[in-house]
Amino acid sequence: MGTRPEIIKMSPIIRECERLRLDYFILHTGQHYSYNMNRVFFDQLELPEAKYDLGVGSGSHAEQTGKMLVGIEKVLREETPDIVLVEGDTNTVLAAALAAVKLGIMVGHVEAGLRCYDRKMPEEINRILVDHCSDYLFAPTEKSKQNLLNEGIPQERAFVTGNTIVDAVLRNLEIADRRVNVLNKLGLDDGEYFVATIHRQENVDDERRLRGIAKGLERVRREFKMELVYPVHPRTRKRLRTLGLNLNDVTLVQPLDYLSFLQLEKHSKLVLTDSGGVQEEACILGVPCVTLRDSTERPETLDVGSNSLAGITYKRIVQKVKLMLTKRSGWKNPFGDGKAGRMIIRVLRRELD
Ligand code: UD1
Ligand code: UDP
Repeated sequence: MGTRPEIIKMSPIIRECERLRLDYFILHTGQHYSYNMNRVFFDQLELPEAKYDLGVGSGSHAEQTGKMLVGIEKVLREETPDIVLVEGDTNTVLAAALAAVKLGIMVGHVEAGLRCYDRKMPEEINRILVDHCSDYLFAPTEKSKQNLLNEGIPQERAFVTGNTIVDAVLRNLEIADRRVNVLNKLGLDDGEYFVATIHRQENVDDERRLRGIAKGLERVRREFKMELVYPVHPRTRKRLRTLGLNLNDVTLVQPLDYLSFLQLEKHSKLVLTDSGGVQEEACILGVPCVTLRDSTERPETLDVGSNSLAGITYKRIVQKVKLMLTKRSGWKNPFGDGKAGRMIIRVLRRELD
């Protein structure tokens, strides 16, 4: 693992390894390293320390992935594990899968088969490559399994398990209610505010798209007269500063810990995001979501009606917020029953025995 969403989505699998006292270890690439993008999640989710932390940090895609490949290969040669598990679509995931498969070590891909069919997104390239060098593919839904079969991946390698994000949400919501009170902390009233998160490279590094989104958020804030809280990812903070974008009247805060963020999402009236994990969580929590992208690899959220694609122009963003506010939140969560972590480990124990 190496980034915020990987820590969160791997936590149910780690918990299961601990429960069964399996012989495993965590390798952290150091792709995310700021306290509020990394350490806070280990502490809050009560995860064991990583045995290896490569400290790779930020850099261009090639630089970052290359450093990871070299570091991961060294560890794998020494440890010779039976299998390497990776989760999602980040550069960490690509590097780990590639290092393992070239050493003849098996790879299990958690959250396999997601596709948005937009190759301009680095995540799409990572997903495709990792799926095609994996031995075990844990697809969250039937739809994602079908994507794999369509690309010629043999049926017997693909397992529909649900998404471990459901496990994480169900467990941590309850803990959040006991331990944090983010509404109090930020001075918000239940159901009387919107939440935004934007960090994807396709949006943030493209000035036209980021300006469109910024204008969209400002308009939404004004038009719906709802407080708009935005925990700003470090990639976006840097770009907003460079472009001199202030996001007038939007409440900008530092990235939040998981318990606070979950609670913030759950009690919000609506979420605006380009995050994969946040689209899923909003759907699970029954909160309408407007996605500030042109495509999504989470089409299940569109199918059940919890999510709508707005792109990046302010008119469409305002329009989609209006539309999603008319939705009733009775949709069915398509990402499983919260036992994905257990199921993945069960499949692996059966297959590897
Ligand atoms: C990465 C993933 C993206 C995922 C996201 C989760 C890739 C290609 N992208 O994007 O798919 O959705 O993580 O959040 O793997 N930075 C810090 N502190 C940190 C980490 C990053 O300040 O702890 C800043 C640095 O300026 C860095 C920038 O954020 O250059 C981008 O970080 P990087 O890890 O390259 O990509 P993310 O945008 O985080
Ligand atoms: N998240 C968090 N604090 C925040 C924003 C997001 O804990 O301030 C969590 C969120 O609940 C979700 C995950 O981070 O589980 C999503 O990660 P991110 O948006 O960084 O990446 P993506 O899912 O797009 O890859």
